[in-house]
Amino acid sequence: NVNVPERIDYVFKVVVIGDSAVGKTQILSRFAKNEFCFDSKSTIGVEFQTRTVTIGGKLIKAQIWDTAGQERYRAVTSAYYRGALGAMVVYDITKRQTFDHVARWIEELRAHADTSIVIMLIGNKGDLVEKRAVRTEYAVEFAEEQGLFFSETSALSGENVESAFFKLLQHIH
Ligand code: GTP
Repeated sequence: NVNVPERIDYVFKVVVIGDSAVGKTQILSRFAKNEFCFDSKSTIGVEFQTRTVTIGGKLIKAQIWDTAGQERYRAVTSAYYRGALGAMVVYDITKRQTFDHVARWIEELRAHADTSIVIMLIGNKGDLVEKRAVRTEYAVEFAEEQGLFFSETSALSGENVESAFFKLLQHIH
């Protein structure tokens, strides 16, 4: 209802990181606008989208930041992570290398983000089952070792995208 002003209880900053083309921008668009774009372009610099959700009776504005996976397009690291309460580290289940790089992204998080940041590992492109290159059990084990939440999503079908964000936001809360 446009006539009722939103009474936001909390604003939670969440950052989305991971290699280029794993689907960070599309996961975000799926969650914020329920949209998917097939010819999505590489992100340059930093963008953010928001969605307000109710968790535990509180109105929470999730402010989700998206940056380029490509080094040359990346923004200033420390500013990007400043104030972030949650992080999604995304890989592409069809590209083994993007999973192998997750450890590096976690290192960057540990170096620049607050120690209490809640981290969720996301294996995206779950719809591409025939092209799977990273076994679910393998990722689950890694997530457990590292103390991360884990989910496999598809920004294309929308599967698990919302539940992953809710899980992350709930644990911040
Ligand atoms: P950078 O901005 O370069 O860091 O990339 P990104 O991680 O934001 O990737 P982006 O969201 O732009 O998606 C890259 C490509 O993967 C696009 O062609 C998307 O259409 C495609 N894509 C993203 N998510 C999915 C998915 O869940 N399934 C399938 N099949 N394709 C996807």
